[in-house]
Amino acid sequence: MKISKKLQDWVDDCEKLCKPDNVVWCDGSKQQLDELANELIKKGTFQKLNDSKRPNSYYAKSDPNDVARVEDRTFICSVNKEDAGPTNNWMEPAEMHKKLDELFDGCMKGRTMYIIPFSMGPLGSNIAHIGIEVTDSPYVVLNMAIMTRIGEKVLDVLGEGEFVPCLHSVGFPLTDGKQDVSWPCSETKYIVHFPEERSIWSYGSGYGGNALLGKKCFALRIASVMARDQGWLAEHMLIVGITSPEGVKKYVAAAFPSACGKTNLAMLSPTLPGWKVETVGDDIAWMKFGDDGRLYAINPEYGFFGVAPGTSDKTNANAMASMKENAIFTNVALTDDGDVWWEGMTDEKPAHLIDWHGKDWTPESTTPSSHPNSRFTAPASQCPVIDPDWENPKGVPISAILFGGRRASTVPLVNESFSWQHGTFLGSATSSEMTAAAAGTVGQVRHDPFAMLPFCGYNMGDYFNHWINTGKKADADKLPKIFFVNWFRKDEDGKFIWPGYGDNIRVLKWVFERLEGKGEFIEMPYGKVPAKGALDLSGLDISEETFEKLFKITKEEGLAEVNEMREYFKKFGDKLPVELTAELDSLEKRYSAM
Ligand code: GTP
Ligand code: SPV
Ligand code: MN
Repeated sequence: MKISKKLQDWVDDCEKLCKPDNVVWCDGSKQQLDELANELIKKGTFQKLNDSKRPNSYYAKSDPNDVARVEDRTFICSVNKEDAGPTNNWMEPAEMHKKLDELFDGCMKGRTMYIIPFSMGPLGSNIAHIGIEVTDSPYVVLNMAIMTRIGEKVLDVLGEGEFVPCLHSVGFPLTDGKQDVSWPCSETKYIVHFPEERSIWSYGSGYGGNALLGKKCFALRIASVMARDQGWLAEHMLIVGITSPEGVKKYVAAAFPSACGKTNLAMLSPTLPGWKVETVGDDIAWMKFGDDGRLYAINPEYGFFGVAPGTSDKTNANAMASMKENAIFTNVALTDDGDVWWEGMTDEKPAHLIDWHGKDWTPESTTPSSHPNSRFTAPASQCPVIDPDWENPKGVPISAILFGGRRASTVPLVNESFSWQHGTFLGSATSSEMTAAAAGTVGQVRHDPFAMLPFCGYNMGDYFNHWINTGKKADADKLPKIFFVNWFRKDEDGKFIWPGYGDNIRVLKWVFERLEGKGEFIEMPYGKVPAKGALDLSGLDISEETFEKLFKITKEEGLAEVNEMREYFKKFGDKLPVELTAELDSLEKRYSAM
């Protein structure tokens, strides 16, 4: 393996600090990965699933206290506090380094330190970036091997080049004869980013975005800083290709908060005949302007780390097919025949399961069999509708950007912005009910601008400015059109009034028509919505009354949202772009005139 001096020096420093018993370079070979999986089986972390049901797949359950991202333990340690902004936790970098040096000192005793060279984006693409994750978790290695492109081939591309150092430890040293456990982790957790150094230190968790450092830590928090500096966009967005019955294809990117439907929209099975949907990515988009002035997106990831509950052959058959083999399942339930199950996978519940706590479970049980943030890890290449251009190093041209959230009321099914600036305002105004993807209060509505609240690596006010400026610099005709959607509106009885999932193609169809300058609309104070009859509801049983409910915002509700936004915007002080205040003022005027 070709290892540059800079890389070797950094790895040596990690070894000196963490004091592991062994050091292993991950070459990405099947043999090495299989050996690691077998070790995890011996340790009790992994259980091999029934090979005839789900070949080459594994089951893991985490410590019950390590099940989701920990936003209150996530830090952006910029040199100046102002650069972390009002939405991030901050600590002075030297102080944080001191704390981390103490925590990491000897943290890998009794364990093996793995070095994972990984590429975010197709190997050798000039949009791709390389990271090196050093970790004491073989579970992390096996997940990273699915989620990113790893191994020797990455070092070949890296040569003497730049990489983002990502140091991770579960924080459970095996000192003084301490016995290992199946899911080692620590009560003390730190997920730390140094934006100027472009480095990541993560301590105490082995789960998801806390530990698979290529994903949220690198591809969003660090990459958003790189994107600001270099004039591109790193976003919490799916990327999907949509082909009309006439054979016209357009790509759409969409930002929804965690567990709000990105994976589902990315691989939707259209209920309207003749429409085709193909997946480029389901969580993260890196977007740059091409020579032709259009915005091009790549998916920096190589796999899906998707929410299991609610995923079924009915809601998302393509996700189900993607995880048919070579997959890892975490915190779901085990069936008696050695396969997996979770709430919503089948209409009929299995008579007996082992739940995510390892306890017997029957349909009479009062707790769910799977944790609400249980996940599958599956190779993107196994998705039956993966887009032919998903690994194109140039990316795919984006025609529309959707923002959306999970809102039971006051946010319409779909509306189109009047301009890029108004669209930026809509992105900044995104709020959503909190989900189990992060530790905290589920269901509470919170502001989540651009679905980036937990993922923006710098001052959110500067981020708003970056979006405004991106629009100003570009050719307006070539910019994607911006829309806002909400699949989650509920009636008085708390039932979803929009069928969602495959039927979301109906909304995409109207979006598609709008992009072509067709698609009839009417203007509401908040944006353009489909005119009567312009949304294809053929074959759906939706009354006119229900349909109206999907778009209804009263003058009082609208003005209340305006006031609430005005209050929220104060948070950003003089970092708030004047353009957003202007948009808010215009919105208020339009509601007042209603
Ligand atoms: P992250 O991986 O956390 O970023 O989440 P995501 O945005 O990819 O969310 P995902 O597609 O995994 O959906 C999360 C949950 O929302 C799942 O339980 C889905 O079944 C549910 N969901 C997705 N789309 C819809 C929809 O159109 N309507 C309804 N009612 N539920 C949906
Ligand atoms: C999210 O929370 O938005 C996820 C899951 O995609 S995790 O990788 O854990 O961040
Ligand atoms: Mn996500």
